[in-house]
Amino acid sequence: MQQDIDPSAPILLFDSGVGGLSVLAELRKLLPDAPVIYAADNAGRPYGTKTEAQVAARVAGLLGRMAERYHPRLVCIACNTASTIALGMVREVLEVPIVGTVPAIKPAAAMTKSGVIGLLGTEATIRQTYVDRLEHEFARDKKLLRQAAPELVEAAEAKLRGEAVDPPVYEAGAQGLRAQPGGENIDTVVLACTHFALVEEELAKAFGPGVAFVHGAKGIARRIAHLTEGQDFARKAPDVALFTKNEAIAGTLAPALAGYGLEQIEFL
Ligand code: DGL
Repeated sequence: MQQDIDPSAPILLFDSGVGGLSVLAELRKLLPDAPVIYAADNAGRPYGTKTEAQVAARVAGLLGRMAERYHPRLVCIACNTASTIALGMVREVLEVPIVGTVPAIKPAAAMTKSGVIGLLGTEATIRQTYVDRLEHEFARDKKLLRQAAPELVEAAEAKLRGEAVDPPVYEAGAQGLRAQPGGENIDTVVLACTHFALVEEELAKAFGPGVAFVHGAKGIARRIAHLTEGQDFARKAPDVALFTKNEAIAGTLAPALAGYGLEQIEFL
């Protein structure tokens, strides 16, 4: 089967916005020659405040259209909200391998010394039964405190547009976790939204010393490399950043996108 794959067939990474770039950065280290389409559903962002039905419908519909247009060899849903809600559904409808992004509760449970883990995600992610299952499976003997931090999604977007973000924005999520019973003992924080990995430095300042952060980007990149092992990669055209809404990207996000090797901007 492997030899049938066109070497220029891309890996498609999908998120509501720039969050999945945290996954792309790790993927580049492992597969520098892989052609990439980075898709951001800027028309639908934020996902975290939407209902399960809204997110599932958008993600399945958009990925179907993108798969038809770009014929990816693999799709990565580089978004915790979309993955915890719609991974199963998307796997039903697309015929390519799909890699999802789910909160890194398992590694966090292995890392914590205090036994208290904080989890920062979107409102939609923290209420998913998928997260309950991960907690039950890997952190049953730990305390997992969950906190929605929707403001960090836009903070990461603003950071990549080169705009200044006020430190209190980063402090809100930290304070929300610390204020919960047992929160003062948190020593490990799961960044359960791909956007949050882009502002890890700012979050580290907000939490103060003694807190380690964990997210799935490296593991996801390894999974993609594993699933495409033995395949040839040949980039025939510049890698594409694909948006679902035609808005000014050129003067704002384009420099950051170019920093991730996405030289070409397209709209769905
Ligand atoms: N980056 C997404 C995640 O990993 C969600 C951001 C949003 O709310 O759109 O959950």
